[in-house]
Amino acid sequence: MEKHAEGRQVVLVTGATSGFGRATALALAAVGHRVYGVGRRALEDPTLEAALAGYIRGDLCLPDTAERAVAEVLAVEGRLDVLINDAGSGIGGALEDTDDEALRRLMELNFFAVARLCRAALPVMRRQRGGKILNLSSLGGLAGLPFQGAYSASKYAVEGYSEALRCEAAPFGVQVGLVEPGDFRTGFTASRRIVGEGSDYDALRRRAMARIEKDEGSGSDPERLAALMVKLVARKRLPVRRAAGGLGQRILVKGRRLMGDRLFLFLLRRYYMGC
Ligand SMILES: NC(=O)c1ccc[n+]([C@@H]2O[C@H](COP(=O)([O-])OP(=O)(O)OC[C@H]3O[C@@H](n4cnc5c(N)ncnc54)[C@H](OP(=O)(O)O)[C@@H]3O)[C@@H](O)[C@H]2O)c1
Repeated sequence: MEKHAEGRQVVLVTGATSGFGRATALALAAVGHRVYGVGRRALEDPTLEAALAGYIRGDLCLPDTAERAVAEVLAVEGRLDVLINDAGSGIGGALEDTDDEALRRLMELNFFAVARLCRAALPVMRRQRGGKILNLSSLGGLAGLPFQGAYSASKYAVEGYSEALRCEAAPFGVQVGLVEPGDFRTGFTASRRIVGEGSDYDALRRRAMARIEKDEGSGSDPERLAALMVKLVARKRLPVRRAAGGLGQRILVKGRRLMGDRLFLFLLRRYYMGC
């Protein structure tokens, strides 16, 4: 196999059509990487189209999209250096109001698609004796957020999966890292599915969602996260995890260790639910 040009990586980014994925794809292409994107919508975005080396249109909840995406990159490039599992969505609502169908749909994208993409990329990366996998978690993957409990559960799953995969893949030269953003302004807020309209939790959910949406609306710019992704791709060794977002949120998560779980969850409840 042809030796790859120093520094120039072949990257596959899921969720490349919006938010972090789009900003990351553009930033990586701007520094010279060959970037392939995955998304469901038609690519009617001239800036993105010009930056991408290729676009794989498909729903990651369907079982063959992950393998097809990796195969399309390999067919052109003969290798895959970096996989960024970014595509994801959320549910806003009480856990009691979140039925199996809603939970399964969320887990299918936020967890099973991540696992399928990792499994599709690993044989290539192991053969190359090198590769990086960056999985998008969230601060919601470090704390069970009220009225985003299903989302938190899906990101906790990504956390555990990624830590174990980091250990298993290391002997083959494949590195795995987690990125844990706080609140950012992206398409995530609008695409979040709301469940439990009219239930006993209505007033509490509305209050929590107003807080969540306000924080996201005044959150950081996705370009900030993209700059971090560019740095991580360039690094010789990936950190296990890297938090990104507002200082307040990061202090809160670090503070959990100091204040203990009971006080931490009490403060979380007060913050989102006001009671
Ligand atoms: N925004 C935040 O505050 C925040 C905070 C922490 C973590 N995160 C995480 O960051 C990641 C990116 O989110 P974002 O904020 O950038 O949201 P976003 O703007 O809504 O982007 C989500 C991306 O996922 C793609 N996608 C959604 N469903 C898909 C499916 N079934 N198959 C294929 N692609 C699909 C969307 O593309 P199409 O619509 O074209 O399918 C879109 O490109 C997610 O994993 C999210 O959990 C976000």
